[in-house]
Amino acid sequence: MSILIAPSILSADFAAFGAEIEAIEAQGADWIHVDVMDNHFVPNLTFGPQLCRAIRPYITTVMDVHLMISPVDPFIEAYADAGADYISVHAEATPHIHRTLQAIRATGKKSGLAINPGTPVEAATELLDIVDMIVVMSVNPGFGGQKFIPSQVDKVRRLREMIGDRPILIEVDGGITPQTAPAVVAAGADVLVAGSAVFGGGSVNNPSVYGANIQAIRAAAATAR
Ligand code: DX5
Ligand code: ZN
Repeated sequence: MSILIAPSILSADFAAFGAEIEAIEAQGADWIHVDVMDNHFVPNLTFGPQLCRAIRPYITTVMDVHLMISPVDPFIEAYADAGADYISVHAEATPHIHRTLQAIRATGKKSGLAINPGTPVEAATELLDIVDMIVVMSVNPGFGGQKFIPSQVDKVRRLREMIGDRPILIEVDGGITPQTAPAVVAAGADVLVAGSAVFGGGSVNNPSVYGANIQAIRAAAATAR
């Protein structure tokens, strides 16, 4: 399977989400990564289910919703109804992560387990039969434009070993650039989230920069396959 590039709209123009999504899809984005933050689980506040509902018609690919919120259970239905395809929740956000992942699956959506840089891969051990994707955070969540944490590369490798031949994707999220992409792909990543490395230098009026940025990450990742 070829590497999937999932630009994070956290780095997009917040006054033009629809146009930005159309632009990055036209320029080669495989998925659209939507970073939901509540200023409780992470020290930042972004958007809620209403925004996801509003941007859904502009997304012709995959809406990959990353919930950095706690509590999370009360909002699963709302993000599913808003049109999410993948709903990823943090292992650290709830003492009942097994139930939360079951609740996502019950909506018919794909379930994702996100783990912070300080959380061991063993957090996923008992959940492998109810997740469709595991998100390895390669920055501490809350902001775009942060520096990649190199220790997470070996974590991806150990996670890939743990997953074996189960149909579970590994997504790496944070600080992904053409410089950091090869290592995480070589370790076993399938989906690369990138915000600042995709949106940096471009705009809806200059979308070819988005295309060049996506292509640079894709080409770098391909060297590791
Ligand atoms: C951080 C978010 C990431 C972030 C990625 O909490 O989960 O998706 O937006 O942004 P970059 O690629 O700039 O690190
Ligand atoms: Zn994210």
